[in-house]
Amino acid sequence: MKNQSLFAKMLCLLFVMIVLSMVSYTLVLQKVQNEFLLRQAKSVSRQIILTRQWISGLGGVWSKDVYTKEHGFLTTYKNASDTEQSSEFYLHNPALATREISSLADIKYGYNFRVVSDQFREPKNKPDAFENEALNRIRNQKLDYTDGFDGELYRYAEPLYVKKACMKCHGDLNKDVKEPMKSILLDKYGTRAFGYEVGDVRGIISIQIPRDSLLRILTSVFTWWNFIIAAVSVFLFYFFTRFVIAGPLVRLTEAATQLSRGEIDTDLGTESIQENTKNEIAQLTMAFERLRKSFQIMHNKISRIRKKG
Ligand code: HEC
Repeated sequence: MKNQSLFAKMLCLLFVMIVLSMVSYTLVLQKVQNEFLLRQAKSVSRQIILTRQWISGLGGVWSKDVYTKEHGFLTTYKNASDTEQSSEFYLHNPALATREISSLADIKYGYNFRVVSDQFREPKNKPDAFENEALNRIRNQKLDYTDGFDGELYRYAEPLYVKKACMKCHGDLNKDVKEPMKSILLDKYGTRAFGYEVGDVRGIISIQIPRDSLLRILTSVFTWWNFIIAAVSVFLFYFFTRFVIAGPLVRLTEAATQLSRGEIDTDLGTESIQENTKNEIAQLTMAFERLRKSFQIMHNKISRIRKKG
């Protein structure tokens, strides 16, 4: 490397700079991707909380004559007075409704979510390893949210706080939970998940979003323009080092070689250089020119002395 030309060294430097800027670009992209995932998760979570708030406010929602086998219902009510066409109604509590909506949000379409708790009534709401840890961290550190990556999955968790509207199904069995809901819940789930107070963390909303590979994002954000701009930069760099640095240095070296051979009338091309130039190579040339002139003066003196002798 030490013996390589200045031009080759500059090219290496350019290469290193390009690699470094690509690394920096990738880091920025990764940061932007994480920020984007967080925002996406937060807005999904807002939407779930709003929906659940609406359902809790109504004390659950009733569907008429339909429910899905997969999800079931909390309780049912037959409209006996309706003699002409009797209807059966099914109650969907917030967690059940969330599960029903979540089953429609397939991860293939961009995201998937669920509501889980360490005190789960429904086995499908049992937290997995990430969710368990997130729940503990949220409770112990009083976090607004926590997130992380599980392979190619971005995972986000946000606390679900107990509000007044939740108490009729999750509060104190002797005080807050009233009949007929009390018997319905006790029959179906036993004494699980009662005794909460307003403000408690009842569980978490857990959201999963598949992460796009960085390579895919990189290839989608790069356009031909980037390659054209990169090629133009390389060419500009090439011309600069070739004609502004390496070229004049080569010419100067040739002149110095001629001087060393005793050709003291060599033209270094200093007429075009301004006295106060800031160009270092031009300054070097001027220094050479001064050196050449003193050689010339000395040479003339010696010649004169020789002639006299
Ligand atoms: C109408 C009764 C009712 C109301 C109101 C209600 N819940 Fe529930 N909740 C349930 C039932 C029943 C389950 C269990 C099962 C399920 O997923 O169907 C449950 C489950 C949950 C779960 C999942 C863990 C588990 O036990 O399976 C969370 C978390 C939860 N509720 C939080 C809340 C919060 C927070 C509120 C208030 C915003 C609320 N619930 C209001 C009845 C209710």
